[in-house]
Amino acid sequence: MNGPVEVRAGARLSAPRIMARCDELARFSEQPDGLTRVYLSPQQQAANERVLAWMREAGMNARLDAIGNVVGRYEGERPGLPCLILGSHLDTVRDAGKYDGMLGVVSAIESVHALNAAGRQLPFAIEVVGFADEEGVRFNATLIGSRAVAGAFRQETLNAVDKDGVSLREALRGFGLDPERIREAAHRRGEVLAYAELHIEQGPVLEAEGRAVGVVTAINGATRLAIEIDGAAGHAGTVPMTLRQDALAAAAECVLAIERRCAGVPEMVGTVGKLEALPGAVNVIPGKARFTIDIRSPEDSLRVAAVQDVLAELQAICRRRGVVLKTTQTHEGGVAACAPWLMEQMGAAIAAEGIAVRKLPSGAGHDGMAMIELCDIGMLFVRCEKGISHNPAEAITVADAEIGARVFLRFIENFRPQAQ
Ligand code: GLV
Ligand code: MN
Ligand code: MN
Repeated sequence: MNGPVEVRAGARLSAPRIMARCDELARFSEQPDGLTRVYLSPQQQAANERVLAWMREAGMNARLDAIGNVVGRYEGERPGLPCLILGSHLDTVRDAGKYDGMLGVVSAIESVHALNAAGRQLPFAIEVVGFADEEGVRFNATLIGSRAVAGAFRQETLNAVDKDGVSLREALRGFGLDPERIREAAHRRGEVLAYAELHIEQGPVLEAEGRAVGVVTAINGATRLAIEIDGAAGHAGTVPMTLRQDALAAAAECVLAIERRCAGVPEMVGTVGKLEALPGAVNVIPGKARFTIDIRSPEDSLRVAAVQDVLAELQAICRRRGVVLKTTQTHEGGVAACAPWLMEQMGAAIAAEGIAVRKLPSGAGHDGMAMIELCDIGMLFVRCEKGISHNPAEAITVADAEIGARVFLRFIENFRPQAQ
């Protein structure tokens, strides 16, 4: 598995280079002993510069777009042809693994590198995008990068603030970008043939079945909420238990109610991933609690019903405890179905590698959820170890990186736009 792989005469892919580049990107991190890289941070700037250089080396014209995405364009047989967009994200969760997002960007660049090395131009252009914000860690607003490309950026998101009170508007300016020009990042519909993304599965199915890759059928829908509970801060030693308005105790009851409601529906998941108590001292009753809710399901109607029930239950808990509930929806996205024609072409590329085609849904969110506003979407999953993701233990093998890249390149080389 070491060294370049011959895909077609002259077209060469290097899985070890894909792995090395994921390692390299993992070094652009807030903390030295792990990986956290959030939107519009100095670490993202450094990662962007590296990715821009790789894109140029692979034969692309590369630039930063108006929202901070890295975009590389490889022209087709003539300049200015409609493009196939390939990509994934370059931001990470806190204490992340090094393949979620990055593998897709690096594998797409590797595919273009192989085409360029073979001197091949296709009857369409290719654009590779390293999306700047998919995870939504910094501003609690997910898919900012891909929404901008899809022309679906919401102006009110500019007012979202990070934990230090810095607004997205201010952060964009600090990054050298002009918030008034975000719409310049958008593609028009006729310019784009499809969006295709390679991503690690982030789940255990492919590994359990002994398969290296699979075709994604749809991305589950998701709702995210930011919750704030206002109680009354007080002295931990003097206020009797019956006279407290403890915001954190109320939040704890809410967390369990969310878990109960979501656990009651097959394939639904509900998570409180962030919880803070304020002012946050051992001898002060928490006067305020903040937490996030993330609820997902392959069925939109079931998710919407669960969110309604959860909000009603949270309201009841807070009323009973004499505390005040404030809820803000930070994300709402329905199930994003992959286009059957792209699934078929992705499946053909897998079959051509002599691998049986496995189709599976994605429980994790992806940039395709936003890109579907612009064009049809398709995804290729690559097996990851024990299905672990959003965790520094995230791992893939060089052999699987190679199979993933070979399939992806085959898909690109044989890509036929849908007849209009
Ligand atoms: C993104 O990784 C998500 O599914 O939250
Ligand atoms: Mn992720
Ligand atoms: Mn991801």
